[in-house]
Amino acid sequence: MQIGIIGSGAMGSGIAQVAATAGHTVVLYDTNQEALVRARTQLEHILHRLVEKGRMTGQEVTDILQRHQFVDTMDAFRECGLVIEAIVENLDIKRSVFQTLESIVTREAILATNTSSLSIASIAAACQAPERVIGLHFFNPAPLMKLVEIIPALQTDPGLPSTLHQLMLSWGKYPVQARDTPGFIVNRIARPFYSESIRILEEGLGTKEEIDTAMKTIGGFRMGPFELMDFIGHDVNYAVTESVWTACYFEPRYQPSFTQRRLVDAGWLGRKSGRGFYDYRLGASPVETTGPGDSEKLRRIYERIVVMLINEAADALYYNIASRDDIDQAMTLGVNYPKGLLRWADEWGIATCEARMDRLFNNYHDPRYRCSPMLKSLAQQGERFYPNENI
Ligand SMILES: NC(=O)c1ccc[n+]([C@@H]2O[C@H](COP(=O)([O-])OP(=O)(O)OC[C@H]3O[C@@H](n4cnc5c(N)ncnc54)[C@H](O)[C@@H]3O)[C@@H](O)[C@H]2O)c1
Repeated sequence: MQIGIIGSGAMGSGIAQVAATAGHTVVLYDTNQEALVRARTQLEHILHRLVEKGRMTGQEVTDILQRHQFVDTMDAFRECGLVIEAIVENLDIKRSVFQTLESIVTREAILATNTSSLSIASIAAACQAPERVIGLHFFNPAPLMKLVEIIPALQTDPGLPSTLHQLMLSWGKYPVQARDTPGFIVNRIARPFYSESIRILEEGLGTKEEIDTAMKTIGGFRMGPFELMDFIGHDVNYAVTESVWTACYFEPRYQPSFTQRRLVDAGWLGRKSGRGFYDYRLGASPVETTGPGDSEKLRRIYERIVVMLINEAADALYYNIASRDDIDQAMTLGVNYPKGLLRWADEWGIATCEARMDRLFNNYHDPRYRCSPMLKSLAQQGERFYPNENI
């Protein structure tokens, strides 16, 4: 099957590489000629590095490159069985692109969007045949990140998720299924990693170095929240937070912070601009986050952030955003968490999680700290998320 990709930026070019490596011919389209040239140059560079590292043969690289077509017209999508859109995150532009696309492809073609935050239902609604539209959310960099969230819209043909599930397996990916809700699985459940860390900083209960240290040394996370936000970019991270918050009717748990807003205002976007929470400019002292610290304080910081993540995961299960296994796999494969959050809850004990949430709620009387009904009912019944497994 021929695969079409719209948008040859970071995501589109990565998805094209994955599909071509899996043996498909790929038609990669962009309105910006420079983006197409950049995509081709970067792909050649990446593939040749894989040869240098002995992970691919020269012949494989030649074949993958030959399976790529870089085009400046959507007419080239005529033969595609699946087209994946990965353009700018703007609903009106995406809807208009889907309308044009539908007038070109065959009636059988599947149309997918890689949107991170927009409603799949509203993109599908722009089409004459909305039942063929679905969300297919890859993670950055697409060739390295195993997770793909499959998001059927209200209108999507019920058979389509399993077709794409099989296809993603054949691309070497780990597909999970999410309901069409803001942030899907990963971008929703990960919010407290950033927002609770910023709260702790704002309250003066820990410095950014201490919070990063706590999450890495006690939590086992690869990067601390402040390092990670600097890496992602505050413009991107703030936009996702604000979008999930707004789309969830101003749910207090997802409320963005002034601290991050001011970094965006100042243009301190993180690594890419040389400054964020930390200073990356030439001559600045290196970021030091794993030094020794007040172990009791670090433990409290770690417990507060992780229990908020657990609560978020439990709530996602409660509201059927995804299955237990998909929620846990999504967080380990999509954002490299050291273990699934629901499994983590079992390890701590559900009653402990409930008590920690209740303590936060009683302290702040802020609805963002309300304990998920899922944790409450499991605690009441003395149950666990994984009742048949040894902890
Ligand atoms: N970057 C990430 O970490 C990430 C992760 C998952 C999903 N996404 C989503 O993937 C999509 C693309 O993100 P990205 O980071 O690759 O963006 P990007 O800015 O790197 O690339 C977007 C590309 O789309 C092209 N484009 C814009 N409008 C177009 C149009 N009308 N027709 C054809 N091409 C057009 C641009 O020229 C650009 O090359 C967004 O919806 C984003 O939310 C991004």
